Amino acid sequence: MELELTEEQRIVQKLARDFATAEILPIAAALDREHRFPTEIVRKLGELGLMSMLVPEADGGAGMDAVSCVLALEEIARACAGTAVIASVNNSLVCDPIARFGTAEQRARFLPRVMHGREIGCYCLSEPSAGSDAAAIETSAGLDGDAWILNGTKLWVTNGVEASICVVYARTEPVAGSRGISAFVVEKDRPGVSVGRVERKLGINASSTAEILFEECRVPAENLLGGRGEGFKIALATLDGGRIGIAAQALGIARACLEDSVAYAKERRQFGKPIADFQAIQWKLADMSTRLEAARALTWRAAWLRSQGRRCTQEAAMAKLAASETAMWAATQCVQIFGGYGYTNDYPAERHFRDAKITEIYEGTSEIQRLVIARNLLS
Ligand code: CAA
Repeated sequence: MELELTEEQRIVQKLARDFATAEILPIAAALDREHRFPTEIVRKLGELGLMSMLVPEADGGAGMDAVSCVLALEEIARACAGTAVIASVNNSLVCDPIARFGTAEQRARFLPRVMHGREIGCYCLSEPSAGSDAAAIETSAGLDGDAWILNGTKLWVTNGVEASICVVYARTEPVAGSRGISAFVVEKDRPGVSVGRVERKLGINASSTAEILFEECRVPAENLLGGRGEGFKIALATLDGGRIGIAAQALGIARACLEDSVAYAKERRQFGKPIADFQAIQWKLADMSTRLEAARALTWRAAWLRSQGRRCTQEAAMAKLAASETAMWAATQCVQIFGGYGYTNDYPAERHFRDAKITEIYEGTSEIQRLVIARNLLS
C-alpha cells in the first residue's frame, strides 16, 4: 500500500495552492459579496491547465490523473468555494464526459472551446420534476431528418449563465425511466436555447446557477454523445467523477474552517490568554482536523480508483457524503470559535458556513449518497 503522493501530484498541488493563495483568496470575499463570476481567474486557471485536468494530452488537455484533480480543487476551494465549483463542473461534468464518450470529431470540435478558461461548459440534467429522481426527466429530443429537436427546461445549472457548451440529457425514446435517455452536446448560442431564471443563493456566489430553456432547439445528429439511449448511464458515470470533485470542494471548505479557526484561536484573547489555550477550543480543532483527514482519505481513494479506470460509484458516494458533512460540521464549529464575530461578514467564517451547505445537496444529496451506498451493500 502506497499512501504518498507522487512527485507529479505534489507539483499540481503546489501550483494550485500558490495560485489560489496569491490570486483567489484575496478577492474571495468580494466575489461572494458582489455575486461576481471570476472571469479573469477562470482564464488563468485555464492557462495553468486546471480547466482541462482530466482530458488526455492527446486531446490537448492537461492529462492529469483524478487524484491531481482533487488536490487542485481542494486548493481552489480553500480560497473560494464558488470558484471551485465552476472548475469542478467544467472538469468533471463537461470535459470528462466529452473526452470519455465523445467521438474523435466531437472531442476535436468541443474540447478546445472549454479547456483553456476562455469559455466554459455546463451540465444540464435536473428539471423541475426530476431532481433526486434523475431518470424522471421530461426534456424531449425528437429526430427530424438529420437533426434532433430539443424541448424542455433544465434547472440548477451551475455555470448556466456563462457557459457556451452544454452537456444535455433528453428523452429520445418513448419509454419511462432511465432507458430512453440520450446525451447531447449543445452549443448555447443555438437558436432555441436561452437562460431563464438565475437563482439567488445562500452561498457559492461566485458561480451562477440558472435555468436553461430549450424551445424547438435544432441540434445536429452528430452532437449525440455516446449511444442513443445510453444517456442515463453516461449521466451517472459522469456524476461518479463529479461527486469526487464536490468532495474535494468540501475538503477545501473544511480546511479553510480549520486554518481560519486555528489562526483566530491563537490571536483572540479572553480571560487573559488566547482562546487556543482552552481545552474546549482545542477539542474542536482536534475533531475538525481528524474528520478532515478521514474525509480526505476517502476522497483520495475514490479518485485513485477512478484513475485506475475502476468503477467507484460506492467510494465516490462515501467520499462526497463524508466530506460534505465534515465541511458543514466544521463550518458550524468555525462560526462558534469566532463567536459573535463569526456571525458577521467581517470574517470568513459565515461565508464558509453558507458555502458548505450546498455540498450536502448538489450532485446528489446526502440522502441519495446514502441510498447509493446502501443499495451496494444490499445488492
Ligand atoms: N455508472 C454507470 N451506470 C450506472 C451508474 C453509475 N454510477 N449508476 C447506475 N447505473 C446504471 C444502472 O446499472 C442501471 O442500468 P441497467 O438499466 O442496465 O440495469 C441504470 O443506470 C439505472 O440505474 P438505477 O436503476 O440505479 O436508477 P434509478 O432511477 O434508481 O436512480 C439514483 C439512481 C442513484 C437515485 C440516481 O437517479 C441519482 O444519482 N440521483 C441523483 C441525481 C443527481 O445527483 N443530480 C445532480 C445533478 S447535477 C447538479 O447537481 C447540478 C450542477 O451543475 C452541479
